[in-house]
Amino acid sequence: MSDPAVPTPSADARTAAVLTIDGPSGSGKGTISRLIASRLGWHYLDSGALYRGVGVAASWAGLDLADPAALVRCAFDAQIRFEDAADGELRVIVNGVDATDELRTETAGAAASAIAAVPEVRSALKERQRAFRRPPGLVADGRDMGTVIFPDAAFKVFLTASPDERAERRYKQLKDKGVSVIFDDLLREILARDARDANRAVAPLRPADDAVCIDTTGLGIDTVVERVLALVT
Ligand code: DC
Repeated sequence: MSDPAVPTPSADARTAAVLTIDGPSGSGKGTISRLIASRLGWHYLDSGALYRGVGVAASWAGLDLADPAALVRCAFDAQIRFEDAADGELRVIVNGVDATDELRTETAGAAASAIAAVPEVRSALKERQRAFRRPPGLVADGRDMGTVIFPDAAFKVFLTASPDERAERRYKQLKDKGVSVIFDDLLREILARDARDANRAVAPLRPADDAVCIDTTGLGIDTVVERVLALVT
């Protein structure tokens, strides 16, 4: 089934350069991808925000997360827009409502991970993700960008970091925002989400065969950005 909301892309758009940045949550891919897109002047796709957006739209509509048919309808119908805010943040608008803060919660992440395991939901979001490919290029951040959505991407990176370091990064992020969290709970959630994302039957989290893997444990953001940029430029 094709998404009626997605126009057929032009030949230029279909062949625009793509850099895929995949990896588990907390590997730094969101921050790194945005910085690289801005340095290259390329478009940016936060595919996790699409899954989170569908999860939030489903929860607002009171849908049962175990009802695939309802979730697929929701994946086609949910209007999800990205807006660059004045502070440089990317705001995510779901069905006309700014859902950026709600999307960042662990609850939204867990809902996204659960619906992302439904094959029909993944297919429903395919064309929507591919529509982000436009000249001069696209940085696509997610779990299956290099393996499923843009298998022909010219540049593919897979970022990892130890679970402890990823939980630590998330802990600091939330603390800076004034959210009180328990480190061990975060670590447990990260390990559970890793296991679910890596073991699902469809598009499991794994590096593409032709991806360059970078372990970011102990590395600063600038170092990782330069390493990735060196692959592209
Ligand atoms: O990157 P993130 O934490 O915002 O992603 C939220 C969830 O969405 C993640 O647990 C798995 C799922 N996801 C996915 O299955 N495929 C993607 N390309 C992006 C996210």
